[in-house]
Amino acid sequence: MNDSLFVLDSKPVSYVIGEGALAFSEKNLAQYKQAVILVDENVEKHCLPVFREKLPLFNYKGVISIQSGEQKKNLEQTVHIWNELTRMQVDRDSLLVVLGGGVVSDIGGFAAATFKRGIKSINFPTTLLGMVDAAIGGKTGIDFSNFKNQVGLFANPCSVIVDPVFLSTLEDKHWQSGFAEVLKYGLIMDRELWRMLKGKHYREIDEWSKIIIKAARDKIDIVRHDAHEKGIRKNLNFGHTLGHAIESYFLKSGKPVTHGQAIAAGMICEAWISSKVYEFECIQLEEIIEMIDLNFDRFNLDESVIPDLLDLMRQDKKVREGKLRFSLLRKLGKAVHDIEVDMKLVREGLQFYIAREKCS
Ligand code: GLY
Repeated sequence: MNDSLFVLDSKPVSYVIGEGALAFSEKNLAQYKQAVILVDENVEKHCLPVFREKLPLFNYKGVISIQSGEQKKNLEQTVHIWNELTRMQVDRDSLLVVLGGGVVSDIGGFAAATFKRGIKSINFPTTLLGMVDAAIGGKTGIDFSNFKNQVGLFANPCSVIVDPVFLSTLEDKHWQSGFAEVLKYGLIMDRELWRMLKGKHYREIDEWSKIIIKAARDKIDIVRHDAHEKGIRKNLNFGHTLGHAIESYFLKSGKPVTHGQAIAAGMICEAWISSKVYEFECIQLEEIIEMIDLNFDRFNLDESVIPDLLDLMRQDKKVREGKLRFSLLRKLGKAVHDIEVDMKLVREGLQFYIAREKCS
């Protein structure tokens, strides 16, 4: 083993992360009598051939393919998976291999956890977002009635196998969505990771395996301490309260933006709010904004959208008893959660983003 492969043989989830992770996991897969692979149509085309090539001895019963995209993370596609599992006579000792990005691991984990009261699954994320975030931590579910992740459960796969080999198939927008989350780990808990990234555009980075191991380990640490998001896991929401509102706003207006772009904008606003609540040094705020601006284009928003964004935020799952709570930065590398923030300050955070002012 070398420092480009991280192995954590733990319960309830074991992890293999880094270069060669696929080949490393071949023996582990052999213990299942029967396995079925779940993919979406893009993964089937671009990643399934790589998976087959790297695991030539892996014997599986069939492939279930679903339509790709967040809009397809719905009940209809879940029923399709359940139907296929039934048709293939999958039993409770079988394994569902979930090969794909965040949408596939959300819906696949949900279908596996509910089929026959639960069959085993292993996540093989194929996108950067999946590798450092969605495949880790057992959040599964589908969108319902226009709300994201409205129906679902916490249900862990038995393993998460992260092999960066799939990144060569990734489109730019998917790099961005994953990179926003990688930056977030640096900001909320990992200054060393931040230092590794600082001043770089994601396209210039050549040590992805190391970065993925670091970011994924950050997420593993958090979910091992707080599987059900009662405390420290909420720190992962930094940038997401405003970010989700921005994402929903553009989705509703028929001009969808990537998750990464929206979270990047959310992180700028929430870093600014943090700097006001915790009065951290201006230079740190400038450093955060510079790094985000280097990697993400800013949106052209104007003040007229602020009321819509504030309304969308009030519908967020994080609102309790009508109060908006944020995960904020106490300083660069240290987040805190459940911080009630006055609507006036939230509005000012958005105004700061729109005006592109320098910190003062
Ligand atoms: N993506 C945030 C979490 O897993 O809690």
